Amino acid sequence: MPAIKIAPSFLTADLGRIADEVRAVEAAGADYLHLDVMDGHFVPPISFGAIVIEAINKVTDLPLDVHLMIEQPERQLESFAAAGADILNVHAEVCDDLPAIIAQIKALGCRAGVGLNPETAISAIAASMEEIDQVLVMGVHPGWGGQALIPETIEKIRDLRARLNERGLGTDIEIDGGVKVHNAAECAAAGANVLVAGSVVFNDNASVADSMRDLREALAAVEREA
Ligand code: DX5
Ligand code: ZN
Repeated sequence: MPAIKIAPSFLTADLGRIADEVRAVEAAGADYLHLDVMDGHFVPPISFGAIVIEAINKVTDLPLDVHLMIEQPERQLESFAAAGADILNVHAEVCDDLPAIIAQIKALGCRAGVGLNPETAISAIAASMEEIDQVLVMGVHPGWGGQALIPETIEKIRDLRARLNERGLGTDIEIDGGVKVHNAAECAAAGANVLVAGSVVFNDNASVADSMRDLREALAAVEREA
């Protein structure tokens, strides 16, 4: 199994010290930065947008994995690409013309990710499977960090990985929400190869460095086995 990627999410980080928090996860070996954009419509909260992402891009060389929890994402893709996004994840639930949106993302030079809410079936992306670079499987209802993983997510990931394998596709599967040290290995063994890590990395109980190390250690056994 190729190395599992860890993508810290900043919703529970200290956003007043965002540059320091970015440097901390970078030093601790993060693979991507996962940036959660919320519009107050697709999900109730409003988080941050392209202007903040552009500022973050200036203080890191890590790939930016931008998670657009927004309606009508096609209207915003260009500004997020210009802000420095490397991966643009849209949600299947709000894409009327998913193939066109995936093509738009790729034309902007970004990798195309498609998100699935917990209640959205894999069949929602079946017709576009060949074109998608990353499927973002929500492990919680989107909108907030710090929630518990919905257990059925593991089976969904296993099912998705099996369907991708059947088609000979090595598409990335990113699990987003609820990843903790105790379930990280299970997520990876089911077939996720990108793990979003929010409150497990940014919390009041342990340093970013210690939390990242614990996550890596939890994943090491799965990586060796495969
Ligand atoms: C939820 C966001 C997630 C979230 C993950 O809507 O998309 O990226 O921040 O946070 P944790 O890891 O705490 O569940
Ligand atoms: Zn996210």
